Amino acid sequence: MWKARRNAVILAHNYELPEIQDIADVLGDSLALARAAARTNADVIVFCGVHFMAETASILNPEKTVLLPDLEAGCSLADSITAEQLKSWKRDHPEAIVVAYVNTTAEVKALSDYCCTSSNAVDVVQSIPEDKEILFLPDMFLGAYVKRMTGRNNIHIWMGECHVHAGIQPQQVDAVINQHPRAELLVHPECGCSTSSMHLLAEGQLPTNRTHILSTGGMLDFTTHSTATEFIIATETGILHQMEKANPQKRFVAANPNAVCPFMKKITLQKVLDALRNMQHVIQVQDELRARAKTPIDRMIAIG
Ligand code: 13P
Ligand code: SF4
Repeated sequence: MWKARRNAVILAHNYELPEIQDIADVLGDSLALARAAARTNADVIVFCGVHFMAETASILNPEKTVLLPDLEAGCSLADSITAEQLKSWKRDHPEAIVVAYVNTTAEVKALSDYCCTSSNAVDVVQSIPEDKEILFLPDMFLGAYVKRMTGRNNIHIWMGECHVHAGIQPQQVDAVINQHPRAELLVHPECGCSTSSMHLLAEGQLPTNRTHILSTGGMLDFTTHSTATEFIIATETGILHQMEKANPQKRFVAANPNAVCPFMKKITLQKVLDALRNMQHVIQVQDELRARAKTPIDRMIAIG
């Protein structure tokens, strides 16, 4: 009722609590949600995700009211670089092109040339002329993945990490593979284990046809379309709800059952209702900052 009264749309990330996923109008990965925010006709966007996602939605669609049901839904990865740190890096490397993962603040995006998500990071970097020096920030594991996939040596990588994905360790993944030797292994490129997975793949120690490095949206597509029946999932565990719902006959095993993002889990049904009823918490980016942050986000939406 409040949703209709506000003419609102509910966008939710694949890591949200199951009950939030079940009420979402659009459920997806970071890129899909940014695209949905850019094209919605609703007056109000209730963003069931984390702060940088709601901020990105507001930058893309400033005439809409964007609500984040809990202001404490932050992101340890976005916190791993500040605008001041980036300014200082740029002073030392004035020619470099800055590619910022979407998991960053509006201030950091405003100092960047391109944004990307895990589903189009490789395409974004490939679109930049080969002779240009690049800074990829802030995730070191996604940066290492992009460097390997593009084969470029002129990429500097910021040493940031998401504490949830960094906590998915290679030894844990190995143990789960030993218990489920026939399962397909799906790894998010933010994972601590993604770098070792790439090395093992290159050395032939992981089966190339059964190891896949994918965004959360890519993982959902893969599990739905694959004929395999067992999957090891190396990312935040919230995504298993959607996989199980869409594929009740298949089996999904978390590489690390403790990989739970405390920020994503801040959003509850009660907080969504309060957000709609009280029109809280409004996420807005002031005009000058918005204009500067929008260019790299527009490039991200256009590529991949
Ligand atoms: P994607 O959904 O784009 O794969 O991103 C994962 C993530 O950690 C978002 O915070
Ligand atoms: Fe940030 Fe990691 Fe949580 Fe994603 S899973 S919102 S990157 S802390």
